[in-house]
Amino acid sequence: MVEGSKGLAGVAVADTALCYIDGEAGRLFYRGYDIHPLAEKGSFAEALYLLWYGELPTTVELTVFEGLLARERRLPDPLADVLRRLPVDGTPMSALRTTVSVLGELDADAGDNSREANLRKAGRLVAMLPVAVAANHRLRLGEAPVAPDPDLGLAADFLRMLTGEAPEDMAAAALDTSLLLYLEHGFNASTFACRVVASTLADMHAALTAGVAALSGPLHGGANEHAMRMLEEIGDVDEVGDYLDRELAAGRKIMGFGHRVYRTEDPRSTHLREMSKRLGESTGDATWYELSRAVESEMRDRKGLYCNVDFYCATVYRHLGIPLDLFTPLFALGRTGGWAAHVMEQHADNRLIRPRANYTGAIDRPYVLIDRRG
Ligand code: COA
Repeated sequence: MVEGSKGLAGVAVADTALCYIDGEAGRLFYRGYDIHPLAEKGSFAEALYLLWYGELPTTVELTVFEGLLARERRLPDPLADVLRRLPVDGTPMSALRTTVSVLGELDADAGDNSREANLRKAGRLVAMLPVAVAANHRLRLGEAPVAPDPDLGLAADFLRMLTGEAPEDMAAAALDTSLLLYLEHGFNASTFACRVVASTLADMHAALTAGVAALSGPLHGGANEHAMRMLEEIGDVDEVGDYLDRELAAGRKIMGFGHRVYRTEDPRSTHLREMSKRLGESTGDATWYELSRAVESEMRDRKGLYCNVDFYCATVYRHLGIPLDLFTPLFALGRTGGWAAHVMEQHADNRLIRPRANYTGAIDRPYVLIDRRG
């Protein structure tokens, strides 16, 4: 028997200097910087720079960095061809997984695990994946993709590529902050998947293909979409109690609640709750916010559980007019930067990640020839 923990709960499998989570106190740090001022005053690109280079950028450094990312924001023709051929009833997450894999085929640095090559590949992925997600969405609706505009910020351009219209500043800022909040979160399942793949010395695109796959499940990235579906199903504040009674009695998990690490408020949800409230106020429709508050309060009373990052993100994205099936791809677009940082950290000081399992089957069973098996 090997010592272990189901689901690797509480087990530290590697060192990292990227992110620190204090689950008891509900605190989150990117490279030692508290998430609260980063989310309030910083941007996604700034946090990305911090994660990849270890320091906050100066104004000049950030401008150069954003320029590099903007120049890479494009849809390579072979990828556009592949996206056109995907079945329209496929999911955006499987299209995204395919996209990362295809970009690996096209990347001039494929197979090169040096830090310089990894930084180039990471930049291309962060820049190109939003273009691909928006293009795939439009193609599935039978519409032509909208070309990127490198003069816009990444979040604003994503919203524009989705709808064909420039978004309001408030909407672009809200999306940018959500990407910052999704950027990095320690050894969650998808990041761990990336690190396992990178630890075999497979390259950036191979690792991130696994990351997208791991994120596609409802217990991880899918939760924001399912939280929104749940709110739609509940529909009214007066129905919250009955809905939760029914679901909890049936032993079903309430999406957007609970966390493996946090035992108190997820600090990311503090910002998303506020954004959800402000967006509701700006449209004069606080319905989703009030319904969310009611679910949050009832979950505290009934189960002592706090909401996680995905719960209020659901209504933020709803206010931004983002289609439900793009909620999880957006989580992936933010997390791509974190996955890439982890691949670089793994490649810089590698040891193959290879845990053990407790074997629970039989041993030494006699082999019986096939014609004597009854
Ligand atoms: N709804 C209802 N009950 C929940 C719950 C939820 N969302 N999350 C946890 N619980 C309950 C469990 O049923 C368990 O109760 P029990 O002790 O009576 O069996 C207890 O809380 C501990 O939960 P557990 O499943 O052991 O926690 P975990 O660390 O394995 O799981 C999650 C963490 C995130 C997988 C889990 O909370 C979950 O499935 N949440 C919903 C999906 C989600 O929002 N995912 C996004 C995460 S950022």
